[in-house]
Amino acid sequence: MTIDHILTNDEMLAGLTAQQLRELVGLVEYDPSHDRFPVNGWDAVVWAVGNATQSAHYFQSAMGMELIAYSGPRTGNRDHQAYVLRSGAVIFVLKGAVSPSSPIAEHHRTHGDGVIDIGLEVADVDRCVEQAREAGARVLSDSHDEADEYGTIRCAAIGTYGDTRHTLVDRSRYHGPYWPGYVSCASGYRKRTGSPDRLFDALDHVVGNVEFGRMNDWVDFYRRVMGFTNLAEFIGDDIATEYSALMSKVVTNGNHWVKFPLNEPAVGKRRSQIDEYLDFYCGPGVQHLALATPDILTTVDHMRLEGVEFLSIPDAYYLDPTLKARIGKVRAPAEELRKRGVLVDRDENGYLLQIFTKPIGDRPTVFFELIERHGATGFGKGNFKALFEAIEREQEARGNL
Ligand SMILES: [Fe+2]
Repeated sequence: MTIDHILTNDEMLAGLTAQQLRELVGLVEYDPSHDRFPVNGWDAVVWAVGNATQSAHYFQSAMGMELIAYSGPRTGNRDHQAYVLRSGAVIFVLKGAVSPSSPIAEHHRTHGDGVIDIGLEVADVDRCVEQAREAGARVLSDSHDEADEYGTIRCAAIGTYGDTRHTLVDRSRYHGPYWPGYVSCASGYRKRTGSPDRLFDALDHVVGNVEFGRMNDWVDFYRRVMGFTNLAEFIGDDIATEYSALMSKVVTNGNHWVKFPLNEPAVGKRRSQIDEYLDFYCGPGVQHLALATPDILTTVDHMRLEGVEFLSIPDAYYLDPTLKARIGKVRAPAEELRKRGVLVDRDENGYLLQIFTKPIGDRPTVFFELIERHGATGFGKGNFKALFEAIEREQEARGNL
C-alpha cells in the first residue's frame, strides 16, 4: 500500500467490496438527491487519552490496528501527540496532551479517556453546515480548507451531546496519510505469527449516553439537523424498568452506515448503568463503539490472547431452554458461543452475534462491542431481557430474588 493514497474515499473502504460492507454493517440503497445533509459514512473517530503513546501500542497489539500516521513535537505540533490507527475502514486518532495548556489536557482532566469527535464523511461540507445552522445546531467551526503538499481537505465541525463534536470532512481532494500536518508513520510493532491481518473491518454504530429525559431531544437533533431517520429498535419503559434501566432509540443516515443509538437512564430495579457512566464521564458522551467483523469467534480469541477482557455471561444464558427457539439456527454451535461469551439476537431480517468488552480506560465509561451481522438490522435488544432473566434465574436458585 502506498502511504500517499491511504484515505481517498474509495480506499476508506480498504479493499472491502460494496457487498461485503453491505453485509457487515447493513447498508441499504437510498437516493441522496433530496437529502439535505447527505452523509456517505464515517470519517475518523478522535479520542482524547491520558497517554497516546501507550494507547497506540494497545490499539495495535490488543485491537490489531495498524499505525499509519503521526503528529506531535517531531512534526512541530507542541500541543499534543496524535497517532492515527486503521483497521479496514475504521480510523481512530489518539490524542494525548504534550502542553499542560492543551485543550486535550482539559478534556482528559474532566472526562478521562474518551471520544471527542465522531467524524462524518460528507460530499458537500458547505451545504451540510448551512443546513445545520438553519436547523439550530452549534457550528463550532465554519466550512474551511486545510491544505498541505498532499492536497486540500474541506471541513467544518458541529457540536453534539456533551463535549462531543462531529467534524464534517470532504477529503476527495486530499491524498496525504491522514490530515494536513500529519506525516506517515511506520511501527516497530509486529503481530504474533498466525494473527489475522485485522480483527475488524468497519464501524457499525456509535452509542451516545445522554442526560436523564434528554434522549428524545437528541433524537430530534439528528432528525432536524442531519435528516437522520429512526430505526425501529427502541427500548422503552417496558424493558427499561424491568431489565435494563435505560431507554434507547436509534437514528441513522440515508444508507444506514452511520447509526447512533442514544441512551438515557431510566428508573429501574437497579441503579442505571447510564447514571454510572454520566457520573464518571462527567456528562454525556460516547458509551460504546461497535466494530463489525465477519468472524467474531476468531476476533474474540485473538483479543483475549492479548489480554482484552469481555463481559462474562452467565452459563444460564446458554442453558436457557427458550434460547434455541429464540435464536434458531446460527452459524456456530452454541457451545462455541458459550465458551467465548458471545451473545445472539434475532429479528425479522436475520440474526447477529455480539460481545462487549469491559471499559477500556481507567473510568467505567467507554467500551467496545464486536458485532457480526447476518441480516439482522437491530442492536441486540433481545439480549437485555435474556441476560437479566438469566441472572435472575441464578439469583433465584441461590434463594436471593
Ligand atoms: Fe451496541
